Amino acid sequence: MAAPLPTPDTEALAHSQQLVHIIQNQIGTAGGWIDFARYMHLVLYSPGLGYYSAGARKFGSGGDFVTAPEISPLFGQTLARQAAQIVQQTQGDILELGAGSGKLCGQLLLELQQLEALPQQYLILEVSAHLREVQQQTLRQMLPPEFSYKVQWLDELPTTFNGLVLANEVLDALPVHIIKTGPELQELGVTYSDGTFGWQARPLFSGELQQKTAQLDLPAGYQTEINLATQGLVASLGDMLQQGVILLIDYGFPRHEYYHAQRSAGTLMCHYRHYAHSDPFLYPGLQDITSHVDFTSVAEAGVAIGLNLLGFCSQAQFLINCGITELLQRYSPSELMTYAAVAAQAQKLLSPAEMGELFKVIALGREYSNPLIGFIQGDKRHKL
Ligand SMILES: C[S@@+](CC[C@H](N)C(=O)[O-])C[C@H]1O[C@@H](n2cnc3c(N)ncnc32)[C@H](O)[C@@H]1O
Repeated sequence: MAAPLPTPDTEALAHSQQLVHIIQNQIGTAGGWIDFARYMHLVLYSPGLGYYSAGARKFGSGGDFVTAPEISPLFGQTLARQAAQIVQQTQGDILELGAGSGKLCGQLLLELQQLEALPQQYLILEVSAHLREVQQQTLRQMLPPEFSYKVQWLDELPTTFNGLVLANEVLDALPVHIIKTGPELQELGVTYSDGTFGWQARPLFSGELQQKTAQLDLPAGYQTEINLATQGLVASLGDMLQQGVILLIDYGFPRHEYYHAQRSAGTLMCHYRHYAHSDPFLYPGLQDITSHVDFTSVAEAGVAIGLNLLGFCSQAQFLINCGITELLQRYSPSELMTYAAVAAQAQKLLSPAEMGELFKVIALGREYSNPLIGFIQGDKRHKL
């Protein structure tokens, strides 16, 4: 039997209750039902109360989940090799979306300095005011003061950009719609009664969501997510990019694997204190809610706005192509404790049983024709 989830303390529960009231009001105003994407947006991003907007610790061993830059500096150091190629070629900047704790930015800038490939500017677009503060604090600790002018926070995407756009585990945090097939196509939404949220299905006859779902040709009795926000975000990035590369790293699959007949309950997942479960109505505002990424729709959204698909492969293949094994050689096996720790971190990033295979990297570019080092070899298993 699975272990029970830890119970939040009284203060956290009171915080969650405040958010519940706000969502309850929104459901009331909307006539008793909101779509799941709206619910997910409210629980994750409501100002001051949503999971990403409020102050609880999320990343690392004391939080709810661990991302690659939190696991090991090797991640950013290796990615820096790819970033260096793009920055040098375009003479452009770096723009990171959803920078989390700020560690990836610190890892990249320190390594890019060693590679003599520092960009003029490192821009961060972060929707959470709280995480923006966390990032500023992390970077004050990680970087020497002369770097401070390089990092700037944006409130919105610039109108034009040259260089590298980067997002690690951002697409999985974007709100999704949930649909269910049957005798008729339905969208699942959220209601509120007797003090709890509940699911309610409504027929889906028209609109973008209906069209996208119809194209998937799903079997009957199939429930899954459709992520319209990702397509919107990729289109906005493509609109902005004049010359350079968009590199998106996340867990997910090409469409034929994502919407495989056997994945009939979708990929929606919640994380609370390192427990993964499937109830998005639990502890609103205190837990993360995510879904996997359909990388085919990412590629299609990019191509539709005139970008070129420059590469798609597993995280393991990408990091190996960028030289993670050479970076490991910086550590001496004679210093056993340090070496063993770094080797274990590399194993987490690369192993097919951990992040190596489920996580993928996709690159979309404009006015950029040189082969990217991260995709130079192999991994023909992942076809979009
Ligand atoms: C799962 S965290 C990943 C954080 C970090 N990239 C890492 O790898 O540790 C998702 C991040 O994306 C941010 N985010 C979500 N939607 C966003 C958007 N539309 N634009 C920019 N950042 C966004 C969140 O606030 C959060 O910082």
